[in-house]
Amino acid sequence: MASKKEIVGNYEVINDREVITRREVLLMGAMAAGGLVAASPAFAATPKVIAEASGVAKATGDTPYVARDFSSLISKKMPGLSESQISQHIKLYQGYIGKANELNGKLKDPDLAGPNATYAPLREMLVEESYAVNGVVYHEYYFGNLGGKGGEPTGDLKAALEERWGSTGKFMDYLKAAGKCMRGWVVIGYNTRGNHLSAFGLDMHNMWSPANLVPILVLDVYEHAYMIDYGIDRGKYLDAFMSNLDWDVVAKRLSYSHKHPSGTDSTL
Ligand SMILES: [Fe+2]
Repeated sequence: MASKKEIVGNYEVINDREVITRREVLLMGAMAAGGLVAASPAFAATPKVIAEASGVAKATGDTPYVARDFSSLISKKMPGLSESQISQHIKLYQGYIGKANELNGKLKDPDLAGPNATYAPLREMLVEESYAVNGVVYHEYYFGNLGGKGGEPTGDLKAALEERWGSTGKFMDYLKAAGKCMRGWVVIGYNTRGNHLSAFGLDMHNMWSPANLVPILVLDVYEHAYMIDYGIDRGKYLDAFMSNLDWDVVAKRLSYSHKHPSGTDSTL
């Protein structure tokens, strides 16, 4: 039987069941090219084809980070999140793309002089690389789970939230309270170590980012995410965020996270 393939974000879905990440496709392609594995139908597509289909075709070795197009969030005119607020936020995200690429390039041939854990050129670049790249990734998760109609989660996602937090209502209260506690991000994800949903809070992109969590819902609580619309009233912003949350995207991420507990790309 001929297999049916489709690209969902960075995932290649085969026969509605098998899901492999673009990263895995690229890895297998590289292995096949190196004679490490035999070519198989599942990995017949070239990395270029996969990349084009998943919307990241312009990534190169020199500029591996390509800004995703979130302009639809502006045209959707999301209630409670103005066009100005969202467009400024997207510009900020694009800045992280530039710096992530810049640091990626510099770290290919860095200045290795004076290696030191207090200060060294290499240390500073390594630290800021994690800041820039996480700034890219978490923003993509955040924008990716906006643009929905809010409301209530359903199905497996609802069950998973209830299992962890008791009810979806308690979860939403928890999320909004966490959003008032943190200075950067709240990340809800599949905990690969504990095999359940967890919440983590981050004060900066690269401060306390969990190693064992596949994000499914990401909330940005930096002031830049809401000050144009709400000044310092974060509570009103959190209500607006919940009203525009795309639960379908969160549910898809949860589904994929179970199949790929070691990690996923931020494409939904
Ligand atoms: Fe942000």
